[in-house]
Amino acid sequence: MKRAFSAPVLIGALATLAAIGLVAIVVVQQLRSNDAQNAGLAMPDVKIGGPFSLIDSDGKAVTEADFKGKYRLMYFGYSFCPDVCPTDLQIVGNAMLDLEDMDPDGASKVVPMFISVDPKRDKPDMLKDFVANFHPRMVGLTGSEKQVAEVAKAFRVYYKLNEPDEDGNYLVDHSAFIYFMGPDGEYLTMFKHGEASKKVADTIENLISG
Ligand code: NI
Repeated sequence: MKRAFSAPVLIGALATLAAIGLVAIVVVQQLRSNDAQNAGLAMPDVKIGGPFSLIDSDGKAVTEADFKGKYRLMYFGYSFCPDVCPTDLQIVGNAMLDLEDMDPDGASKVVPMFISVDPKRDKPDMLKDFVANFHPRMVGLTGSEKQVAEVAKAFRVYYKLNEPDEDGNYLVDHSAFIYFMGPDGEYLTMFKHGEASKKVADTIENLISG
């Protein structure tokens, strides 16, 4: 009996098919990640935000209902953060100052908020001093570990406490997006770490006056 293909030809053909398949997978993954990058900031597939129960910097219990009717410019981090949080909170503060210049009435409807993902160290009175560095109206929120875990989950915030050093100090890995939420707590948009504060202010101005 005569074989249609010799073994080397078959192996060669299979290898070629496998290579084409691999390239196709890589291309598809590339396209997907480009789509995610292009669409991700404005239109996430996942729901961001939701009800929360936390403690403000006066030690008072607050929920999302306390901010009803106000836009919220929200950032999650921790006060001991060496660089990422101070950078982004400065952006939030500067964006608020820009907005106050452009549209004082609109700016008064926006509450800048910092939510700690390190409630073990970020106690209410500490947060009060910390947020005052960035904007006079910035609200500092913390809570129990469970409350913080729940609000982080609702906002798709990743955070992870690292092992403490010999002095008990530790870093916290965390995602670094600035969320802009509407008067009913609905997601409007978000900004990436290091975004220009003027762009944040302009985007907000468009959303609140549009
Ligand atoms: Ni940080």
